Amino acid sequence: MAITRREMLRTTGLLAGGSVLAAESTVTGAVAAAGGVGAAGAAAADTPADIFDYEKLAPTRMTTMGWNYISGGAADELSLRWNHEAYSRLRLRPRILVDVSVLDTRVTLFGRELAFPILLAPTAYHKLAHPDGEVATARGAHASGALMVVSTSATTSLEDVASAAPGPKWFQLYVQPDREFTRELIRRAEAARYEVLVVTVDSPVLGARYRETRTKFTLPPGIERANLKGLKTATGGHRATEDTIYSALLDPKLTWKEIEWLRSITKLPVVLKGVMNADDAARAVDVGAAGLIVSNHGGRNLDTLPATIDALPEVAARIGGRVPVLVDGGIRRGTDVLKAISFGASAVLIGRPYLYGLAVGGADGVARVVNILRREFEMAMALTGRTTVAQIDRDVIWR
Ligand code: FNR
Ligand code: LAC
Repeated sequence: MAITRREMLRTTGLLAGGSVLAAESTVTGAVAAAGGVGAAGAAAADTPADIFDYEKLAPTRMTTMGWNYISGGAADELSLRWNHEAYSRLRLRPRILVDVSVLDTRVTLFGRELAFPILLAPTAYHKLAHPDGEVATARGAHASGALMVVSTSATTSLEDVASAAPGPKWFQLYVQPDREFTRELIRRAEAARYEVLVVTVDSPVLGARYRETRTKFTLPPGIERANLKGLKTATGGHRATEDTIYSALLDPKLTWKEIEWLRSITKLPVVLKGVMNADDAARAVDVGAAGLIVSNHGGRNLDTLPATIDALPEVAARIGGRVPVLVDGGIRRGTDVLKAISFGASAVLIGRPYLYGLAVGGADGVARVVNILRREFEMAMALTGRTTVAQIDRDVIWR
């Protein structure tokens, strides 16, 4: 079976339109300019190979405030740590002598076929990671074939992100206290051809994020919440003062009634993000949610919530396949993706990993992070003898 190295790289997803090699040389160049090895340790001396190498390099490319904002969590950062640790506790059961020469990683979500089940979670303020912000992310997403969920709190307008690169996108909504503004935001997302409305429901208030307090988190001059232009909240920090727990960017009055209202004003599938409790999950389906994302907001809001992979089985069992259930939080390895799917997820989302890629290498860095995870996921499928995503069942976990 004679295949060229180039073909091999392409089938394993390592070649994203030739951009991977470019990313590597950017990284090496920038590290050399920064004086060689340094805070990032051994990883910086070589090409970053995995997500943890990107995590080590990223703080050398960002302001201290930006790094603390992105990497941090709430309070003691226990949920943040557990999210990944919980995957480490799960062991895999291999299966030998299966023909794994062809792997099919495709999944279909809300009528759209995706090449593989790894999406980019909505995250705010990409210009803190890279001057090209969400435009670079969208290009990296497209180069690697990943679907991007664009945040309400983006630093580039949803229209500009949509036109930065082709490829399907979903819009994440923070329902604004100004309901007419919210209605208009949804209209804009529909006009820009976003395919799904992801409503974040785990944030009536933000968590106790002391890294933000210590670094006096605020948007620097010149960086704004581009989707909120016209509101007073388009610039500055996301907390009022130390006296209040509320943020003018979030609506603490949001209830199930508003989810019904949102469904009545849009034809887009409405997905609820930030569901941990199976009772809430059941109610979400009752009010017509088209899907759910099991998420603890990357450990950034309520600390000591369980790891999302620990919450997933109960939610998936209660939903019983009526709507797709996705999960995010702590996914750093392809084996994590495999484990999440075996526990009932239709797909996973990553947050910090691609932001680290964005900080290190712009669009190419985002694409490379996706390719690394995708490749690891394919290796995990092959080594557990699974050739399709549907075959990834509970037996893949060592009990
Ligand atoms: C987020 N997250 C988030 N979620 C959301 O619905 N809207 C948003 O604007 C943001 N903003 C945001 C910023 C940053 C810097 C981070 C790290 C996270 C949460 C995000 O969608 C996702 O739930 C977590 O990031 C998943 O965990 P990992 O992959 O970062 O461990
Ligand atoms: C955060 C908000 C903006 O996690 O979602 O920082």
